[in-house]
Amino acid sequence: MKHLIAPSILSADFLNLGKEIQMVNQSQADWFHLDVMDGMFVPNISYGQPVIKAIAREADKPLDAHLMIMDPDRYFDDFKNLGVEYLTVHYEACTHLHRSIQRIHNLGMKAGVALNPHSHISLLEDVIADLDMVLIMSVNPGFGGQEFIHRSYTKITKLRELIDRNNAKTLIQVDGGVTLDNASSLIAAGADVIVAGSTIFKSESPDETIRQLKQI
Ligand code: DX5
Ligand code: ZN
Repeated sequence: MKHLIAPSILSADFLNLGKEIQMVNQSQADWFHLDVMDGMFVPNISYGQPVIKAIAREADKPLDAHLMIMDPDRYFDDFKNLGVEYLTVHYEACTHLHRSIQRIHNLGMKAGVALNPHSHISLLEDVIADLDMVLIMSVNPGFGGQEFIHRSYTKITKLRELIDRNNAKTLIQVDGGVTLDNASSLIAAGADVIVAGSTIFKSESPDETIRQLKQI
């Protein structure tokens, strides 16, 4: 499968959000990556349902929501109603992860689980067959524009082995500190979905940067 590009809207110009969404629509990007932060699980607050509702009105590509919130099950129905296709929760934020995954599936969404940099791939052994996607955090979650953590390469390789061992179809998503320089090594290591925020939106020509990431 050719890798997918998911621009992270966190780094977009919120004053011109409509234009930013149109740019992504017309670009070679595959998904919209939406980072929801609660100020508890991560030390930052981003945006929530009202903003996603507005984005959903304009967006003509799948919505991929990354929930950096404690006890995310409280909002699964909301995200379903907003039209989210991939819903990713954090391993570290769910006490009953298996139940959370079941609930996401029962609502008709694809289920993803994100791992913080300190969380080992083996934690997912007993749920990997149920997952549509695993998100490897290659920075500590909470902010755009941070530096890539090099150890993430090893985690991608280990995750690829776990997926293959289980004959699973799980996608590997990498999020945080992705640049035009490291994206090709990430894809070579096994990444299927590349998230990029500042690399895209802080560049001179965001749609050209998306094209370059897609051409790798
Ligand atoms: C960080 C978010 C990321 C963030 C990535 O907590 O999950 O999606 O927007 O931003 P960059 O690509 O700038 O590291
Ligand atoms: Zn994210």
